[in-house]
Amino acid sequence: SNDRIEYLRSKLAQYPDFPKKGILFEDIMPIFADPKAFGILVDLLVELVQKQFKEIDVVVGLEARGFLFGPTLALRLNSSFVPVRKPNKLPGDLATISYKKEYAEDAFAMQKSSIKPGQRVLIVDDILATGGTAMAADELILQLNGNLLGHVFLMELGFLEGRNRLKAPTFTLFSGQTEAPEGSK
Ligand code: PRP
Ligand code: MG
Repeated sequence: SNDRIEYLRSKLAQYPDFPKKGILFEDIMPIFADPKAFGILVDLLVELVQKQFKEIDVVVGLEARGFLFGPTLALRLNSSFVPVRKPNKLPGDLATISYKKEYAEDAFAMQKSSIKPGQRVLIVDDILATGGTAMAADELILQLNGNLLGHVFLMELGFLEGRNRLKAPTFTLFSGQTEAPEGSK
């Protein structure tokens, strides 16, 4: 399993000062360019979820990077997939919330009909940084009376302590930067 984690880690690329000075950007896209890496990613996520949670009714993925593997994970778990989207993308009756993340402000929406009260929900995304994004998703699930079981991420930027802000148990495949990058505040 360590070999698989190391293989995945070898696919990540870091870009200093993107999209802003002081941010060390983690590019996860090379994982999806390599079917072996993508296969390992999905296998590891399935194993993690099956170990930590019982049945999942709904996998919720966060736009945009949570859409890269959320549906594949949901299929493997035999769960529904539901998107959380950025503003002005979803039709119908919506639950909405605005939030702050590591390097900008944004807002999220979900269709009210997409989660039935009491459904067992797992939120998935690529990276946990400040936790602003994931915390906003938590609020949406709670607005819709979903049973929020937890969060699963590929990677966590531990120095930002985002997991302390989340409302449900949080698991990551591996840790990314554990200290603030040189020159950041
Ligand atoms: C990135 C990343 C996470 C979020 C983490 O998304 O994919 O969703 O930031 O930051 P936080 O923990 O500080 O909130 P972003 O909205 O930048 O872009 P994306 O649409 O490419 O996913
Ligand atoms: Mg994102």
